[in-house]
Amino acid sequence: MQIIAHRGASGEFPENTLLAFEQALVQKADAIELDVFALQDELLVIHDHHLHRTTNGSGSIYQYSLAQLQQLDAGRGQRIPTLWQVLKLIQGKCWLNIELKGDDTVVPLLALLTKAEQQLGFDCQQLLISSFNHHLLATLKRERPDLKLGALTASIPIDYAAFASQLQAYSVNCDVSFVNKAFVDDAKARGLKVFVYTVDQADDIQRLKAYGVDGIFSNFPARSRTVLTNQ
Ligand code: G3P
Ligand code: MG
Repeated sequence: MQIIAHRGASGEFPENTLLAFEQALVQKADAIELDVFALQDELLVIHDHHLHRTTNGSGSIYQYSLAQLQQLDAGRGQRIPTLWQVLKLIQGKCWLNIELKGDDTVVPLLALLTKAEQQLGFDCQQLLISSFNHHLLATLKRERPDLKLGALTASIPIDYAAFASQLQAYSVNCDVSFVNKAFVDDAKARGLKVFVYTVDQADDIQRLKAYGVDGIFSNFPARSRTVLTNQ
């Protein structure tokens, strides 16, 4: 079972910052998950469009310029990173799950990935692009059929993981509060990977391992690895 650092090693370091991503690498996470919003053709790595929870700013990101936002303290002196900075930091070191939050993120993402391939030699097979907005994933699949998609859900739909098959997704990414064996069995029978968020408790890790899930998103990657190894 793979360990995906949720917003980086966010249990111990400020979430969605370069520090949290570096520490996820130090903790030997298999992958890193982050959240992006689009602003002025850039993709900003932040979970909420309101600033007060994770920075010393207030209001919405949409009220500011990129330059203004990059003056803010996102914890321990960290800045809100751009996705470009993160791609440069982690390329080749682990795989990366980019979760699309804003509904205007597809066009800038496509442009950024092309730039990363051309300028960094970035291998987009190291990416999993996910969203709760399945319309964004359908658009992405049309534009870049080679990209791996993760269909997010915080529910158990009546026809289980059928929506993820319909999207031609690589994985279904499910909330730990809802996931059950029937859902995992259905997804696996469809050939989908199953990743579960957010999993930091030993009993959940044990249960999900028994279900045969492929990976968990954890805020404490090293600690979760220890729990998994000692089971
Ligand atoms: O992508 C998994 C998980 O991050 C989805 O929920 O709210 O933590 O972005 P959230
Ligand atoms: Mg997320």
